[in-house]
Amino acid sequence: MTTLHEPAAPATAELSVWPASATEPRPGGLAVGGVPLAEIADRFGTPVYVLDEAEVRDRCRTYRQAFPDAEVVYAGKAFLCRAMAHWMDEEGLGLDVCSAGELELAVTSGFPPERIVLHGNAKSPRDLATALRLGVGRVVIDSPSKIARLAAAVGPDGHQRVMVRVVPGISAGGHEKVRTGTDDQKFGLSIADGHAQHAVARILDQPQLELTGLHCHLGSQITDVRPYLVAVRRMVGLMARVHEQYGLVLPELDLGGGHGIAYRPGERALDLTTLARRVRSELAGACAAAGLPVPRLIIEPGRAIAGPAGIAVYRVLAVKRTGDEVFVAVDGGMSDNPRPALYGVRYAPRLIGRHSTADPARVSVVGRHCEAGDILAADAELPADVRPGDLLAVPVAGAYHLSMASGYNLVGRPPVTAVRDGLARLLVRRESLEDIRSRDVGL
Ligand SMILES: Cc1ncc(COP(=O)(O)O)c(C=O)c1O
Repeated sequence: MTTLHEPAAPATAELSVWPASATEPRPGGLAVGGVPLAEIADRFGTPVYVLDEAEVRDRCRTYRQAFPDAEVVYAGKAFLCRAMAHWMDEEGLGLDVCSAGELELAVTSGFPPERIVLHGNAKSPRDLATALRLGVGRVVIDSPSKIARLAAAVGPDGHQRVMVRVVPGISAGGHEKVRTGTDDQKFGLSIADGHAQHAVARILDQPQLELTGLHCHLGSQITDVRPYLVAVRRMVGLMARVHEQYGLVLPELDLGGGHGIAYRPGERALDLTTLARRVRSELAGACAAAGLPVPRLIIEPGRAIAGPAGIAVYRVLAVKRTGDEVFVAVDGGMSDNPRPALYGVRYAPRLIGRHSTADPARVSVVGRHCEAGDILAADAELPADVRPGDLLAVPVAGAYHLSMASGYNLVGRPPVTAVRDGLARLLVRRESLEDIRSRDVGL
């Protein structure tokens, strides 16, 4: 095992990327929301996901305080379950969904449909029918063909508020696969080639569709405010053209989400206070220059609300030394967290449940799946005596893990638990072999 030339881990570990409630009640122990993570592993089995309810709620409140005049819409694609929908409702946020499934789950959990925004580059007939049946607040148009289809589905006496998803021609985001502000990807309608303007014209031809504003989402894991400021200028520029051409003042501007968070200690996160202040002043300046009233701002954070509130807990199944490499294999992997394989994301897992005085070592924490790329944390630092039976906890696991989970190798998706005030409860149960078997109806 390659040991590092560094002193043994300090007694109080670095907890900067853990929920604010994280404590180390005894050396090697880690509690979140007042509940030791090892206790959760014992009670619910592993792998298990833990959501700190207070952290989720605090993050919602931080957004609402930073953007008091804006509508904060949680992007449910980051992670959605009934409890999450309920917390978003109680915290006064809206909800961004992109399928009939997300929509039904939210509305049947009591989330007010008028505070829901439906996204999607390819909305199916079922998505649109469900949206109209349940009465979603806004449908975001992402393709010209959907305009006439939506208008027809709404019917001559109906009414639906819509926005247009615009591509402002800005490259931003933590990985090429999550950059959505440029013309060379599938989302939105371009300003540069005139498709966005054309979509506006076509919507205005449909009396049952009310165009409330423009939307853009630049990408994900953006840690710099500048792309948002450029987006404000370009979007206001387009709003000014709509005003000149049709005399229409669009009352809303949705700048999407994408606010970057730190996955490992020392990584940079987007500063929300700075973002709020600079966007507000850029918007005021751009609107004044264009002679437009300031539209109501909408923002759609997903990762920055759910990500840091979640923890994945795994049990080590095997430790293998191959040449200079040490592979620590756990009982989950790319089926519950595909992000490292998709985007090369790096995490900082921690040994929990026992205190080790061994030197730290560089290891690769790998999953149990039949893919060499099933690596949960490359180049991670763990005590050199890590061994089968140990528990590892991965922080910042609340967003785009389980929502992107797959059925690979039929291992079953892990449960989701919530912790609060010293109590843990089950939110989503583990997918059982019986669940898997019961879907398989042929022979
Ligand atoms: C339209 C839209 N809004 C918001 C988000 C949320 O992004 P993030 O979770 O990075 O904040 C996404 C993510 O894909 C999105 O597509």
